[in-house]
Amino acid sequence: MNVYDGERMAELLGAKGLTAVADNEDADLVVLNTCHIREKAAEKAYSDIGRLKREDGSRPMIALAGCVAQAEGAEAKARSAMIDIVVGPQAYHRLPEMLVEAGHGKRPVDTDMPAISKFDTLPARRKVGPSAFLTVQEGCDKFCTYCVVPYTRGAEVSRPYADIEAEAHSLVEGGAREITLLGQNVNAWEGACGGLDGLIRALARIDGLERIRYTTSHPADMSDALIAAHGDVDKLMPYLHLPVQSGSDRILAAMNRSHSVDSYLRTIEKARAARPDIAISGDFIVGFPGESHEDFTQTLSIVDAVGYASAYSFKYSARPGTPAAMMEGAVEPQVMDERLQQLQERIATHSLAFNRSCVGRDTSILIDRKGRAPGQMIGKSPWLQSVHVETDAPIGAMLDVTLTTVRRLRPASCDDRGSSRRKHRRTRQPGNDRRRARRGCPRPRRALRSL
Ligand code: 5AD
Ligand code: SF4
Repeated sequence: MNVYDGERMAELLGAKGLTAVADNEDADLVVLNTCHIREKAAEKAYSDIGRLKREDGSRPMIALAGCVAQAEGAEAKARSAMIDIVVGPQAYHRLPEMLVEAGHGKRPVDTDMPAISKFDTLPARRKVGPSAFLTVQEGCDKFCTYCVVPYTRGAEVSRPYADIEAEAHSLVEGGAREITLLGQNVNAWEGACGGLDGLIRALARIDGLERIRYTTSHPADMSDALIAAHGDVDKLMPYLHLPVQSGSDRILAAMNRSHSVDSYLRTIEKARAARPDIAISGDFIVGFPGESHEDFTQTLSIVDAVGYASAYSFKYSARPGTPAAMMEGAVEPQVMDERLQQLQERIATHSLAFNRSCVGRDTSILIDRKGRAPGQMIGKSPWLQSVHVETDAPIGAMLDVTLTTVRRLRPASCDDRGSSRRKHRRTRQPGNDRRRARRGCPRPRRALRSL
């Protein structure tokens, strides 16, 4: 969602005549779009601000945006004298006027949460890449005891269907072939076409839109209708990101997750019944206050029971103002480190197994960037794997391929989202020339052979 917000801020400022530069040194204005979900993310924002000071003592104008701005408000200005503007995630449509105020020496702060009005004042989407994000829902009413999101992003609000449809059309006109519907609690979306399943079915009617994804879902809002959509909407990709956080019912209750291990596993079972090849991904927190060795062992068991295609795992980070921050039973940092490592190794084993199980599958990839090697392009499989292929096909092409080798799987080695995504596959000859020709995609030049 921060990537999406960043794009929208860039478009907004672009409409006012500002252009992006590659280097901070050349910037008149730097907008830091921040995350507050874990302490590390917030600390990083402040150290990045410090580094914006130039050798000659000058600095760009600095706007602190995102959830750190929302959580700290005017205090952020006290924490760093270099901050000129503080703007929360629901108020960034006001950036242009705040820039003018800052130009007059004021240090404006806006952390208001007007219900979704920012979308009404943002400029239309411009040219985009083949895979685009579209925010359909913001905020969260779940109040998991460890989480700042309900405080920084506010209550759940669904964008109206007509707005979403219009934005989807302009994204497709701008070059998108895949849209990922975003929301903190995206499967709680509701509107003119019912729930998220209705929205997906409606958007699937858009010509030129070939793939639909959504993230992130809460297990308690995973309706049977949404699961059914995985079985009968071809454009809906076979991928479900469904955070579980812990495999212990005791910890899930302390987290206020409103689902149990059993109900979670039943949801996964239903999703697999609807779409047998669906890739399941999840989020985990280790070291929640009071987490015992037995609780953690149960977390390893749920990883085995689900067989995740990928998963993100984090060390618990106490967030000021959340109920968990006041709980007793803090887990020693060293124990957290060990648990995280053990969990990530277990996830990596299943991830590798999932990827190996895909070898030999005929599928299509959406090319989204160039590879490092000459003539190499990288695309995404329906299961969100990065597929390397040697081809003349341009960015944005859909290419039929047969998945061959799992070339490299980096075990998730740190508690960030990037690490476990870095799976690479190679592809060989395309599986179905006829379908490819119909889509107007060029033929891959030659097969990459396994080493
Ligand atoms: N500490 C550690 N991880 C957290 N997450 C959310 N809040 C915290 C926290 N306080 C993780 C959860 C969530 C993901 C987006 O971030 O796993 O699903
Ligand atoms: Fe945070 Fe997700 Fe829980 Fe909402 S459902 S409070 S966003 S972890």
